[in-house]
Amino acid sequence: MRKVAELHEGKAKIIYSTPDEDQLIVYYKDDTTAGDGAKRAQIQGKGPLNLKISTYFFELLAENGVKTHYLETLNDREMLVRKVEIIPLEVVVRNIAAGSIAKRLGFPEGEKLPRTVVEFYYKDDSLGDPLVNRHHVLVLGAASCEEMDKLEEQALLVNSILEPHLLEKDLILVDFKLEFGRTKDGEILLADEISPDTCRFWDRQSREKLDKDRFRRDMGGVAEAYEEVYRRLSEK
Ligand code: TMP
Ligand code: ASP
Repeated sequence: MRKVAELHEGKAKIIYSTPDEDQLIVYYKDDTTAGDGAKRAQIQGKGPLNLKISTYFFELLAENGVKTHYLETLNDREMLVRKVEIIPLEVVVRNIAAGSIAKRLGFPEGEKLPRTVVEFYYKDDSLGDPLVNRHHVLVLGAASCEEMDKLEEQALLVNSILEPHLLEKDLILVDFKLEFGRTKDGEILLADEISPDTCRFWDRQSREKLDKDRFRRDMGGVAEAYEEVYRRLSEK
């Protein structure tokens, strides 16, 4: 499959049309940003690593009954996916307090939450992707009640597959962000990417951060951490 026209350039990926109107090519860039693009850098080799890690997770999830946009990995930067209309919500699942929930609700970072939390954020950079509740999602017209139920159910299903799988690789799944889209027939598919850009992974013993927090918090060793995640995943 070949790229026809650039449709959209995001912060970390570029979307291209293909000769098949139901398929798109996602190109994974080395660019990384934080704070809605306020901080930017190029991390050599990040695109190919995120592509390999996302491929791994999309294949694992598909084997476990999650419907995703993933079709095929074409080369070291490009993934062929089914075309969807992205639902403008970031669906975040949290097992352990970190990042914004630690700041907002005062849970100490690293504390296991009494139960798994699912949150919706409205995808709008000009508003800073605000946390929204179900009423907000309805007045924004971002998704219907039935769709929100489905997003929550699918997000928890993804968590129930990934969390134990990662623990076997000595990785703690602290939290992660998912995006979903609608096909032209109205089917909801898991979309976007699943990578250290969009998840928090901690080493099981040392709790060392192996994800984008190394960039957000200027800790260094970003590519090495992503490499380590891929190494653990690909180990039998
Ligand atoms: P947060 O603690 O900053 O709200 O992040 C929660 C999870 O969502 C974490 O795994 C990182 C991921 N995330 C993204 O993928 N994109 C974003 O823009 C933000 C803010 C978080
Ligand atoms: N999505 C944020 C940005 O655009 C980055 C992040 O914190 O993951 O800058």
